[in-house]
Amino acid sequence: MNKTNTEKQTIELFEKVYGSKPEVFARAPGRLEILGNHTDYNEGVVLSAAVNQSTEVALKSVKGKKCRLFSSHQKGDKPVEFNLDEIDKAVKGDWTNYVKGVICEIRKRGKDIGAFDAVVTSTVPLSAGMSSSAALEVSSCYAFSKAFGIEFSSPDWARIGQGSENNYIGIKSGLLDQFSSIFGKKDSLIYCDFRTVEVIRNVKLHAGYVLVVANSMVKHDLVDSDYNVRRQSCEKAVAAIKKKHPKVKALRDVSLELLEKEKGLMDRIDYLRALHIVGENTRVVQGVKALDDGDVVAFGKLLYESHESSRKNFENSCPELDYLVELSKSIPGCIGARLSGGGFGGISIHLVEDKQAEKYCDRIRSAFKLRTGKDTETIICGIGEGATVKKV
Ligand code: GLA
Repeated sequence: MNKTNTEKQTIELFEKVYGSKPEVFARAPGRLEILGNHTDYNEGVVLSAAVNQSTEVALKSVKGKKCRLFSSHQKGDKPVEFNLDEIDKAVKGDWTNYVKGVICEIRKRGKDIGAFDAVVTSTVPLSAGMSSSAALEVSSCYAFSKAFGIEFSSPDWARIGQGSENNYIGIKSGLLDQFSSIFGKKDSLIYCDFRTVEVIRNVKLHAGYVLVVANSMVKHDLVDSDYNVRRQSCEKAVAAIKKKHPKVKALRDVSLELLEKEKGLMDRIDYLRALHIVGENTRVVQGVKALDDGDVVAFGKLLYESHESSRKNFENSCPELDYLVELSKSIPGCIGARLSGGGFGGISIHLVEDKQAEKYCDRIRSAFKLRTGKDTETIICGIGEGATVKKV
C-alpha cells in the first residue's frame, strides 16, 4: 500500500501516467465513528472524526467522452477507461463504481461533468471500516466541483456520495461517512445530527488520550453483509410503533420507555435492533456530556456499553472484534473500546493513554496473532481536517 500519499506524490503520479499536469487537486479523509452506531439512517446523533489518512485525486478535464482513471492501488500501469455515455450500471467489484456513481448522482441533480483524466492515491485502509469508499466519493466530488464549476452545498455533496452507495453500489448506508469526511475538524470530534443534517458542534477529546484502531482482519464488505437487513429491521420497528404513536417518524423519536412499552407490537429481532439504536442515541448525548465534564473514564465506559449492545442486540460484531474489545480490558492504558462503523468485521477503536499507546499496540498485535494466527494492523490515529480542493 502507498502509505504516504502527499499532494506532491499524487501530482507526480498524474504526470507519470498522463505526461501532463493536472488542473485540480482534491483530498478527502477517512472517518472514525466514535459513538453512535447505525444511528445516522435513523435520524439520530453520532460522534465522529475525520482521520489523517486520506484519498487524493489529481484531475484534468479533457475533450470528448472518454475518461481515464488510475489508482495507485490497482494492478498494472494502464488507467481504467470508460465512456461517459456508458456508465448506467455498476460492474460488480470494480473500484471505479464509486466515481461513476458520483457522476450519475450529479446528473440526477441537473448538472453534468465533462471527460477527464485522473489519478487516485489513498492511505485509508481499504474495506476496513474507515470509509475508504466515502473518501473516494468525496474527493471525486470535490475534484469535479472545481474542474467543472459545479456548485452544491456541503450537505448536498455528502448526499451525492451517499447516493453513489445507495443507488449505484446498492448499499443503503446513511450519511455519516461522507458527512464526516467533509465536516471533520482537526483535533476535534464532531457531534452530528442526522435529522437536521448538521454539525451541532465540535467536541474535544480529553488531553492525554489517543484513538487506537485495531483491525479485526475480517473483511467488511457491506454489500454482502446484513447491513441492509439491519436497516429494514429498524424501519419495521418504527412502522409498528407508528401505528399507535403517529408522531414517531424514526427511531430518533423513540425513548427507551416507549420502546419497552410497545415491544409487543413488533418482532423480537426488530425490537433488539431498535434497542441498540435507542441506546446509542442516549449514549452519544451522555458521551458528549462526559467529555464536556472532563470525565474521560465515563466516556470510555460508554464505548464498552456500545460494543456490548452491538454484540448482543444489533449482532453486528464478530468473534475477532469481540476478542479485540475483551483484550483491551487486560492491557494497561485503555479505558474503552468498541467496534466502529458498519460492523460484521472491520475495525475496533480503543481509547488509550497516549504515553502507553505504542506499547498497547504491540501487545494487541502479539495477543491477536497468538489467538487467531493472523497479523492485525494497529494505527495510532490522528484526527484530521475535512475535505479540501484547489487548482494546481
Ligand atoms: C457504515 C455506513 C454509515 C453508518 C455506519 C454505522 O459506515 O456507511 O452510514 O450507518 O455504517 O454507523
